[in-house]
Amino acid sequence: MEIEEALYTTRAMRRVKPDPVPQEVQAKILDAAIRAPTGGNTQNWRFLLVDDREVIARIGPLYRHSIEQLWEVIYADRLAAAAANPEAEESIQMLKVQRSAQWLADHFEQVPLYLFGFVQADPTGGSIFPAVWSAQLAARAEGVGSSLTVVLSFFHPDEVLDILGVPRDEQWVMACCVSFGYPTGRWGVAPRRPVHEVSYRNRWGNPVGFTVDQPLWPPG
Ligand SMILES: Cc1cc2nc3c(=O)[nH]c(=O)nc-3n(C[C@H](O)[C@H](O)[C@H](O)COP(=O)(O)O)c2cc1C
Repeated sequence: MEIEEALYTTRAMRRVKPDPVPQEVQAKILDAAIRAPTGGNTQNWRFLLVDDREVIARIGPLYRHSIEQLWEVIYADRLAAAAANPEAEESIQMLKVQRSAQWLADHFEQVPLYLFGFVQADPTGGSIFPAVWSAQLAARAEGVGSSLTVVLSFFHPDEVLDILGVPRDEQWVMACCVSFGYPTGRWGVAPRRPVHEVSYRNRWGNPVGFTVDQPLWPPG
């Protein structure tokens, strides 16, 4: 696969089949992930794959509670605005994300594989995310869908650390939980606000100098 195809089509692919992701595919995903940079090359990260159904069954209710909290606390205003004006493009997108995210919460126990990412002594928390995104791109290249989630870290970090047996005296922070599985749907180019609406040049607010009205991939 061309790198551009992976870059443009790696979406939050939450709806997946229960079929297992083979270990040789898991190895490719993680081996690509650990090529990513960390500050000072400290590699102060750990990647914990979880496919044990009993462990996943213990985390599922915590994930569902976290998503409930997300809708009720963090997204309450945006969801109310979307409900009040459901025809607006922004509302349609918001409600689509909500349905998709709720699907993962409702089917948490059916997803074949999760990757929990941990960082240590990393005040920015940024050192793990290049690797996590590389894992998601590597999965895409193997036809495996993934979705980065952080709600467990917001609402139930301690419970998850205990379930996963993470040593509590080493300052490991759970950065994310990524779901993996073979998609039920199709891959498509991620719709986003165009480059020229979110980019500047030299000074905040100055036009970047070009416009990109359509995604530049696929060519033509
Ligand atoms: C930092 C970060 C945190 C996220 N947390 C969650 C999450 O907790 N649950 C979830 O279902 N999706 C989560 N997502 C996925 C986003 O909702 C998703 O990437 C976004 O809606 C765009 O969807 P698309 O890639 O399919 O276009 C997260 C994404 C990022 C980058």
